[in-house]
Amino acid sequence: MTKNVRIAPSILAADFLRLGEELQSVSNADFIHYDVMDGDFVPNISFGPGILRTVKRGTDLPVDVHMMVSNPDEVFRDYLNAGADVLTFHLETCKHAHRMVDEIHKQGRKAAVAINPGTAVSSLDAIIDYLDMVLVMSVNPGFSGQQFIEHTYTQLYKLTALCKSHSVRPLVEIDGGISAANAARVVAAGANVLVGGSAVFDAPDHAQAVENMRNEGMRGMEMRDL
Ligand code: DX5
Ligand code: ZN
Repeated sequence: MTKNVRIAPSILAADFLRLGEELQSVSNADFIHYDVMDGDFVPNISFGPGILRTVKRGTDLPVDVHMMVSNPDEVFRDYLNAGADVLTFHLETCKHAHRMVDEIHKQGRKAAVAINPGTAVSSLDAIIDYLDMVLVMSVNPGFSGQQFIEHTYTQLYKLTALCKSHSVRPLVEIDGGISAANAARVVAAGANVLVGGSAVFDAPDHAQAVENMRNEGMRGMEMRDL
């Protein structure tokens, strides 16, 4: 596993009236996390490929697009065309995972698969060899500010074991209810990309919140080696 801990602020929790400033306020992060919600796969609607183009103009960071949609096979090209650097689709909704991963790679982008808290880690077995990143949901997707589900630690341990058995090292992103308070523990359990929505954008100093999460995450990285 990489020794770095990457931080991905989720702009779902940002102030959209001041989107440009909000993006700049987290320029010390590693990714911008962009949550696409369709009101069908999840009970909320957020933004689509049009706003992604705007976000790409407002940041130099790579944008990590998390598609929470019922029809990723039909819409994923729109997000590639709009500039997604990392494109994540949910295993629960995709029809042809390998085909989608292939097309994402042919466009020179990174491919990731997400699983909901209720999805077995073993369902990644057939696709894990082809992924740049796995996104483990630690809440049921749909909203920022939800409470972290404790069973996620078990999901992370199982994913670490699955990656080991396949001799692969995808990035492991954790999303939902992450803050400096649990960053060390999720990293110790196997995560190395931490999404922060409310923990970053509800904080008085966003850049400081990013650093706090990173520092706690690095502490978790050291705990792994013990
Ligand atoms: C939840 C989204 C998350 C969300 C995280 O459905 O996928 O990325 O923005 O927000 P927090 O960190 O506040 O739980
Ligand atoms: Zn997300």
